[in-house]
Amino acid sequence: MVVNVGNTGNAGRAAGYAWGVAERYREFSWREARGRSDAHEELSARISQDPEFCDLLSGSLPAGSKQQPDLLLAAVRYLDGPHAEMGPRGAAAYGRWREWTIRHWDEVRAVIMQRATQTNEPARCATLLPLLARLPQPLALLEAGTSAGLCLHPDRYRYRYEAAGEDGPRRRAELGAPESPLVFTCRTGGAADELPERLPQIVWRAGIDLDPLDPVDEPDDLRWLQALVWPGDGERAARLSAAVDTVRPAPRPRMVRGDLIDELPALAAEAPPEATLVIFHSAVLPYLPPARREEFARLVRSLLAGRPGGGHWISNEHHSVLPWITDSAPHSPRPDDALHLTLALDGHPVALTGPHGQSLHSLSGARGTPGR
Ligand SMILES: C[S@@+](CC[C@H](N)C(=O)[O-])C[C@H]1O[C@@H](n2cnc3c(N)ncnc32)[C@H](O)[C@@H]1O
Repeated sequence: MVVNVGNTGNAGRAAGYAWGVAERYREFSWREARGRSDAHEELSARISQDPEFCDLLSGSLPAGSKQQPDLLLAAVRYLDGPHAEMGPRGAAAYGRWREWTIRHWDEVRAVIMQRATQTNEPARCATLLPLLARLPQPLALLEAGTSAGLCLHPDRYRYRYEAAGEDGPRRRAELGAPESPLVFTCRTGGAADELPERLPQIVWRAGIDLDPLDPVDEPDDLRWLQALVWPGDGERAARLSAAVDTVRPAPRPRMVRGDLIDELPALAAEAPPEATLVIFHSAVLPYLPPARREEFARLVRSLLAGRPGGGHWISNEHHSVLPWITDSAPHSPRPDDALHLTLALDGHPVALTGPHGQSLHSLSGARGTPGR
């Protein structure tokens, strides 16, 4: 493909789309990247002020998810583009990034068209564990939107739950697989007896994803997951590599490629009858249009209701995606609530969680031991 920056063949239409792309990059820069990644903040701001480059994006990528800023930024890093780690610093560095990206546009576009943003955050297991440990054991875990399945191994990591103390963090509970090199630290609020004392016993694990990744056996999948971690977040990158190493010797979960609504009934039917089936998902439902989110919630409830012995539904999602869950939460909003996910058991909110599993603040009414 010959890239003709600034000429997309339909100037009037493209100009409108290019403006939309520029807006999207501007928003991404100040709303999402600011404070999290200097490199992504600068790069996306510079792209938003580059009409010719925005023309290229709007003219050669389909509208919608393929025009997501983080998808392009990850694709260039995946291909070892310039400043892959630190991002541009100044106009000259941006010029080099731009020149490289345009020169390699066929490859960059192919990665964008093949891949999706699907970061897998194993540290979210720290927020799921207290609920999993309270359910009747053993468990059959089924994760919808599982990415690489790293959250299907909550019994293979270590955990340290801390509370804020006057002299710094105070340890409240520590547990986990003794051989795990990886320890997830999670700040907590709420009653200490809500924290787990032992790991759940898991006898079956399965996941559904539109594009399941296998970072253990497919080096390209691992590179893609690493490219999705934003530059400057070395802790998250190290956590990802350590999680992949931790699960490397473990039997692979059953992974199903496809849509989570279409595939759920058949996969749930495979769960062993003697185990408590737990259908869970985190940071997945924003990918679905609102009507599909509700359809998914109805499907999960009806599958569990129809299963002999029942089962449980754990949802860990931003409060905007199933607002009726959060609307019933008995807590006073805090300024940073917008960043949190709502952890819910069977549609009842039980905690607010940090988006990367770094915190767990339980809400009242969350205690007790659920039956199967
Ligand atoms: C942000 S990732 C979260 C992955 C994992 N749940 C976690 O907490 O780390 C969202 C995942 O949902 C998947 N996904 C989005 N829409 C889906 C759908 N309709 N059916 C199945 N998977 C989907 C994406 O491919 C992606 O892997």
